[in-house]
Amino acid sequence: MTNSLRVRLLWWLLVPLAIYVFVTGKAAYDNARHTADLVQENTLLASARMIAGEVEWSDGRLLVDIPPAALEVFASPQGDQVFYNVSVDDGRLLAGVPDFPARQAARHDSPIYYDADLHGKPIRAVGIVRQMYDNGAIRRVLVSVGKTQASRDAMLRELWRPQLVRQIEMVLLAVALACIGLTFELRPLLKVKEEVMDRDPMQLEPLRVERLHTELRPIVEAINQCIARLGLQVAAQRRFIADAAHQLRTPLTLLETQLQFARQHRDIEPTLSEALAAMQRSNRSMVGLTNKLLLLAQAEAADYTQLARQKVDLASIAQDVVEDLAMFAQKRDIDLGAELVESAWIIGHEALLSALVFNVAENAIRYTQPGGHVTVCVARDAQRVTLTVTDDGPGIPAEARSRVFEPFYRASSDTEGTGLGLAIAKEIVQAHRGEIALKHREPPKRGVIVTAAFFVDLM
Ligand SMILES: Nc1ncnc2c1ncn2[C@@H]1O[C@H](COP(=O)(O)OP(=O)(O)OP(=O)(O)O)[C@@H](O)[C@H]1O
Ligand SMILES: [Mg+2]
Repeated sequence: MTNSLRVRLLWWLLVPLAIYVFVTGKAAYDNARHTADLVQENTLLASARMIAGEVEWSDGRLLVDIPPAALEVFASPQGDQVFYNVSVDDGRLLAGVPDFPARQAARHDSPIYYDADLHGKPIRAVGIVRQMYDNGAIRRVLVSVGKTQASRDAMLRELWRPQLVRQIEMVLLAVALACIGLTFELRPLLKVKEEVMDRDPMQLEPLRVERLHTELRPIVEAINQCIARLGLQVAAQRRFIADAAHQLRTPLTLLETQLQFARQHRDIEPTLSEALAAMQRSNRSMVGLTNKLLLLAQAEAADYTQLARQKVDLASIAQDVVEDLAMFAQKRDIDLGAELVESAWIIGHEALLSALVFNVAENAIRYTQPGGHVTVCVARDAQRVTLTVTDDGPGIPAEARSRVFEPFYRASSDTEGTGLGLAIAKEIVQAHRGEIALKHREPPKRGVIVTAAFFVDLM
């Protein structure tokens, strides 16, 4: 069926109304037919009685003189044909057409009504019996009167048609009113459409709901909630771009200063080498930042349905990362350990999962004091595969805990970093439809536990 609200509502209205018109029309037709039949039968009976009343004995014979009034009762503009037959039970015809299909009721004192065919025309007829006594003789005279149906049909039409026409008019009126009403009542919705269409792309104020129908309000309120979320998203993106630009500007400015310095001291050999080494460091930090920005963009854009859906073993990914970080841990005098199940297969993106383990484990190593312990653990149960990284470092200050997953947010300024590591980790876990959480170890123990859980049944 079509999707037009107007057409669908009209169907809802029209179908029941059509059934109603059909049922009441049928009842009206039956009533009208009953009335027309009754009138016709009464006239036929009156006529037959008048004729029967005129049958009399004359010189021992039965005679009848048809009174004109007996036929005049049938006068109508439709010019029906009337037939009659008066005959005695011995077969003698007293008057009328001889081939009249006469019938007799079972009881002689009650009339019989019936449909018949005479000279190829359908007729409605009545038959009555009059008993005639004379000198002990009883004769039964059968009087039959029949007529064609034109006036009866005309009466039926006159009784029935106006009712049907009135009902059809009522249905048409209802449909017209429904159409007009709908056009009128849909106007607020069209206004909302225009308001949305005319909007400038960055206009993110909510749509007005005051003048809307109660039924439409939830829809517009849902759109408004969506606009509000979009607004937050746009603001977050603006903040992100500003932060990224700010982060890049620092090493770029530094590089500019270092370049100037190098040009001024280009003939002084050791100073030039130092300046070049500093420039390389600035450049490395910019490359690092750019790589992280790219990784974040990649993790944000990755959707589970579009991920390169391959089976990967999180345990072996973690093993590789731990090996890569071993040198860094050694340099910082951290005891880096791994507790890995033999295999922990999930569906995912290998490079992104590797970046996840790296970012979380590198944080644990970097923020834990020398002599500390860091454990990377991959476990598996029936439902999920869990990565847990535990350290015994200083932990994260309470006020910073809720913000560490935000891009560019850093809880400590005494170390180097971009503040993107945990934001990237969170995006990667979300792209795999997993869950990431950060907990603190119960005192007297110290340190942070980061867990990332992946659901096996998504495979
Ligand atoms: N294991 C940890 N122990 C203590 N503090 C942590 C730990 N992990 C993260 N943090 C704090 O959370 C902040 C955010 O971490 P995140 O990894 O997002 O950024 P970063 O390490 O500062 O920079 P990047 O990882 O981009 O080089 C860090 O600045 C640090 O203060
Ligand atoms: Mg980090």
